[in-house]
Amino acid sequence: MRILFYDTKKYDRDSFEKVTEKYPEIEIEYTDTDINSKTANLAKGYKAICAFVSSDVGKETIDCLSKNGVELVLLRCAGFNNVDLEEAKKKNITVMRVPGYSPEAVAEHAMALALASSRRIHKSYIKVRENNFSLTGLTGTNLHGKIAGIIGTGKIGATMCRICRGFGMKVIAYDLYKNPELDFVEYLELDKLLNDSDLISLHCPLTEESYHMINKSSIAKMKDGVILVNTSRGALIRTEDLIHGIRDKKFFSVGLDVYEEETNNVFENREDDILETSITARLLSFPNVIVTSHQGFLTNEALESISITTFENAMSYLNGNLIENNVVM
Ligand code: NAI
Repeated sequence: MRILFYDTKKYDRDSFEKVTEKYPEIEIEYTDTDINSKTANLAKGYKAICAFVSSDVGKETIDCLSKNGVELVLLRCAGFNNVDLEEAKKKNITVMRVPGYSPEAVAEHAMALALASSRRIHKSYIKVRENNFSLTGLTGTNLHGKIAGIIGTGKIGATMCRICRGFGMKVIAYDLYKNPELDFVEYLELDKLLNDSDLISLHCPLTEESYHMINKSSIAKMKDGVILVNTSRGALIRTEDLIHGIRDKKFFSVGLDVYEEETNNVFENREDDILETSITARLLSFPNVIVTSHQGFLTNEALESISITTFENAMSYLNGNLIENNVVM
């Protein structure tokens, strides 16, 4: 099976090439170009394409892939909101994904953001590089003995609960369903969690219900001096309201791996006018805020797991034996 691998980054290629020899039936060609309705034509002659969560696999792209004989879309990610599934179904194109690869990768990054922002590591790093060893402005806060409020206790949230427990925190949570594995966690209503938590970490998906769940009204319910971390999806937070909250000194610190403008790729198109008006750039102007570039998933272990599952997905399609949980309907 020939696969065209769109939007290749060096780390993708390295991790896929490490396992490629175990799958002699599969031949991958890599291109830097990302997929969209115009670049889908490059897939002529390939049975499958490999795309990422940020790729445009909408209706027009699917139509073009279908005209070019593509039968399989392999997503090397869990999310699939960028794929027109109805159109794929109509065109008889199978869509497969990697439902879970390393919850630890994301949860550890969430804790890294909580620690780095609350212990002012980002400020200290820059000061010391400039030979400034003054401690002014670097006072942090302990996590031990505090309350961690985890919103969403699926794979990643549950891992974050365990990490927080390891730090000696009391762990409370809000989810639509209780996770039976978390017997040390107290489930509460959302308002009570907002009110009680010293650290709030978001681990639920972006849905109609969760869109802007952190807004002016929910921020008002939080404790003063709370630490807020978001590694899930940017639009869980209404950024304008977060900026107001930061200005009002509501937050001890904020760590974000995801942000509302992500789909506009503000950081990759580093044009000054975009950055000047960008709401994310405004967030970056606050000294107690850290923003990373949606890198929670990016560890060697997660990349290895993603490449193996993607190859296994391709093999299961070839053998006519689809891995049910990995097929997107
Ligand atoms: P999961 O599906 O295992 O868990 C999600 C949990 O959220 C479930 O327990 C579900 O019941 C709960 N939930 C759904 N709607 C909710 C709501 N309105 N309020 C409270 N809880 C709600 O998902 P997983 O694997 O733990 O991933 C969580 C999120 O992490 C993903 O949706 C994705 O947005 C994000 N993610 C971020 C990555 C990064 O690199 N920063 C990488 C992978 C995922």
